[in-house]
Amino acid sequence: MLPLLSYVLFSLAAFIAYFFLSGFIWGAGYYPTSRSEIDSAAKLLELHEGSRFYDLGSGYGRMIIAASERFGAYSIGVEIDPVKCWWTNHAIKRKGLEKKAKVLHSNFLDVNLEDADAIFVFLTTGTNIMEKLHSKMNKECRDGTKVVSFEHKFKGWTPLKKEGRLFLYSIARPDVERTTKVD
Ligand SMILES: C[S@@+](CC[C@H](N)C(=O)[O-])C[C@H]1O[C@@H](n2cnc3c(N)ncnc32)[C@H](O)[C@@H]1O
Repeated sequence: MLPLLSYVLFSLAAFIAYFFLSGFIWGAGYYPTSRSEIDSAAKLLELHEGSRFYDLGSGYGRMIIAASERFGAYSIGVEIDPVKCWWTNHAIKRKGLEKKAKVLHSNFLDVNLEDADAIFVFLTTGTNIMEKLHSKMNKECRDGTKVVSFEHKFKGWTPLKKEGRLFLYSIARPDVERTTKVD
């Protein structure tokens, strides 16, 4: 009985440790975004039926599932950790969202973002990952693509809005001509 109990407790402790600490292995810690933060991010990103939405570093998939299930977006999670991808795939199937959401097991720096309408990130400033992503989005994303970053600002980019711990940006491509409307 005692060895079985120790085995169960050890497995539970290992699972909890992996859940919270595995993000550090892959470049960002793990703190699950709350439901109200998810709702605020979805509203800032103006998610609606047909929006093409990316969560870059999608963790266990909470954000992409909510974006598809409650806001009607077509969601793509990109996650480097295979265990989180497996978990997310399982959650997508359990909820019957296969036509509205998917997760790619990949480094998001290798994923083309030119079709994105809206992007969510919750990363770290402890590495240069946000700088690399910033320059990739500037080169690749369409003019007007909305980006929300949770907790951390992108250096060299002025947010349009700050709401709680969410920073909203809109990509302005230098090659797009802007006109001022005169009445
Ligand atoms: C703080 S968690 C955020 C999870 C989720 N977006 C949320 O808000 O609930 C950051 C996630 O980014 C993933 N990650 C870090 N660097 C990555 C990279 N270069 N490519 C893909 N995923 C990455 C980590 O594995 C971790 O799951």
